[in-house]
Amino acid sequence: MNPKWYKEYFEEMGIEYEDYPFTKNTENEVKWMIKEYLINPEMKILDVGCGTGRHAINLATKGYKNITAIDLSPGLIRAAKEVTKGKNVKVDFRLCDARELPFENEFDAAICLCEGAFGLLENDTENYKVLRAVHKSLKKHGIFILTALNIFRDEKFDIMTCRAESEEEITRKDGQKKIIKCSDRSYSFPELKWVLEQHGFKIILGVNPFSKESIKYGSMEFMIVGKKL
Ligand SMILES: C[S@@+](CC[C@H](N)C(=O)[O-])C[C@H]1O[C@@H](n2cnc3c(N)ncnc32)[C@H](O)[C@@H]1O
Repeated sequence: MNPKWYKEYFEEMGIEYEDYPFTKNTENEVKWMIKEYLINPEMKILDVGCGTGRHAINLATKGYKNITAIDLSPGLIRAAKEVTKGKNVKVDFRLCDARELPFENEFDAAICLCEGAFGLLENDTENYKVLRAVHKSLKKHGIFILTALNIFRDEKFDIMTCRAESEEEITRKDGQKKIIKCSDRSYSFPELKWVLEQHGFKIILGVNPFSKESIKYGSMEFMIVGKKL
């Protein structure tokens, strides 16, 4: 398996990423985040691993003018810029690795949704680099909204790494099908809470994503919200 599978996978997929059913609830997800944490359209917000920019662009259409969105995939950043032009809004999209964010004490909030880098990288050390980079990018008391894969779901994990491997078929841009081996990291809430605390965050919420419900057995992801200390 290529440990950097996530680079090839998302680059090959391009805008077809938005065919996934889990990308279809963007409007409600953004409304929820605005109601709970992103209350002021003047806030400076960073979208980490933004993909096609679905959350960043939706926020911009709601009058948020200070959105920066980064991703590792040139194809997805290109696609996001195209969509933005069509909607006549402004988002600062940048090609950037979430481990090497060039910001310091700049943002009021960061979002990292649907495994925007965190949880996809080759090992825990690499994933933690994302947390350090996000922490550095936030202002004091800045909010970090993160979703992570839930270990308590019906899937086989490597018991030593809490990672699950899968084979995903994608259609390349030239029309050919290709199988890519993927590997991602799942968490329990207490583990991720501890990890975030070690990276300088105070945890203020742990829920089923975009709700106030408790985390559920069997659900794919959970949401954890931290505040930079
Ligand atoms: C499953 S998608 C999530 C996209 C978006 N956040 C959403 O909710 O639809 C994961 C994204 O993380 C990006 N990614 C993976 N590793 C990254 C890294 N090291 N730095 C920045 N982005 C990364 C991928 O290119 C992909 O766009």
